[in-house]
Amino acid sequence: MKGLPEGRGTPVGLDHSVWEKVLNFIASSEEPTPYLLLDREMVRRKASVIGRGIRNSKVFYAVKAHPDREVVRFVGELGLNFEIASDGELRILESLGVSPERIISSNPVKSPGFIDQARDYGVGYFAFDSPAEVEKLAAHAPGCNVYVRLSVPNEGSEWPLSRKFGVEPDDALDLIVRARRSGLNPVGVTFHVGSQCTNIYNWSMALDKVSALWERAGEEGIDLSLLNIGGGYPIRYTREVVDIQAIEEMIDGLIFRKFPEDVEIHIEPGRAVVGDAGVMVTSVIGKARRADEDWLYLDIGVFNGLMESIGGIKYNYVVGSRARTRRWTVAGPSCDSFDVIDRDVELPEPAIGDRMLILSSGAYTVSYASEFNGFPIPKTILI
Ligand SMILES: Cc1ncc(COP(=O)(O)O)c(C=O)c1O
Repeated sequence: MKGLPEGRGTPVGLDHSVWEKVLNFIASSEEPTPYLLLDREMVRRKASVIGRGIRNSKVFYAVKAHPDREVVRFVGELGLNFEIASDGELRILESLGVSPERIISSNPVKSPGFIDQARDYGVGYFAFDSPAEVEKLAAHAPGCNVYVRLSVPNEGSEWPLSRKFGVEPDDALDLIVRARRSGLNPVGVTFHVGSQCTNIYNWSMALDKVSALWERAGEEGIDLSLLNIGGGYPIRYTREVVDIQAIEEMIDGLIFRKFPEDVEIHIEPGRAVVGDAGVMVTSVIGKARRADEDWLYLDIGVFNGLMESIGGIKYNYVVGSRARTRRWTVAGPSCDSFDVIDRDVELPEPAIGDRMLILSSGAYTVSYASEFNGFPIPKTILI
């Protein structure tokens, strides 16, 4: 076996049982790298925690985080519902026979074709945040349930989402009224605090904003009933993060102080369901010293799986070598100089051909990947 971390202790932040399974798989497999191992037990554990701390809540897995069919099937078997944005995601659910009551779409700007497909399948809940979307939904899915996307603070989230979507309360109120006049059924409000949100105050500021809007909608004679709190729950990459129980305890307390008792809550986690269950198995394909930097080249990079590294996500790497550590610039295999995953990574020097593992890589990796330059997208293997 090639330069594996044999006899090494479990890496910080990784569950021992997952580590054992990963090592056993690699030891007994001929699978060419790169590939992604996704631990079922870890996903099961996360699915059982998420939503437990929030009353009247339903969990919708954001399929974009990892749309592999077998992963989606497994998540569905765990009882989670689904949030989708496109025909492609709908087709996966359709092929698995997921019933439409278990599907919502919180993408505030949807293609007309997708709305048609979703409506025909029986999906009845859609987000919106513009007059054009109201018109489109009224034309393509008349009478459907809609919830408006409010813009909320994303400070402290490693993957902010607020500028592209969401409106301020005055516009949100106008949109709710417009939706009602257009024959849609405005049922609630949604927001997204930003992905990998490590600032729990984002949720409390968001809920303050929503509750003021909720009251104003009531004054207009529109009684809302659905509060969709989006995704954003963080996972551990290189640093500890606040745990989901603590986040939910806070959210639950705020909701039940500020909203009617029978409010229905939707949660749409993606990263938190599959992110920390994933271990990317890669190989070192090259090394070089350039100016004063030591470069390490892997068979996975920005284009074929680690796209989020350019947005600031820092991964934890594991190599088997016991050589002295030094600082590396870690890069992908393509000919593009944009393909640099990380800098100043302290690692013992591996040999070419050694395995290198990248932890917490189950979310927004394979789903973002392309075959740019002919490098393959990692296959997902559930273990
Ligand atoms: C509408 C919507 N819901 C849910 C999610 C999932 O967010 P996360 O993976 O941070 O939990 C996203 C992520 O982009 C999103 O856009």
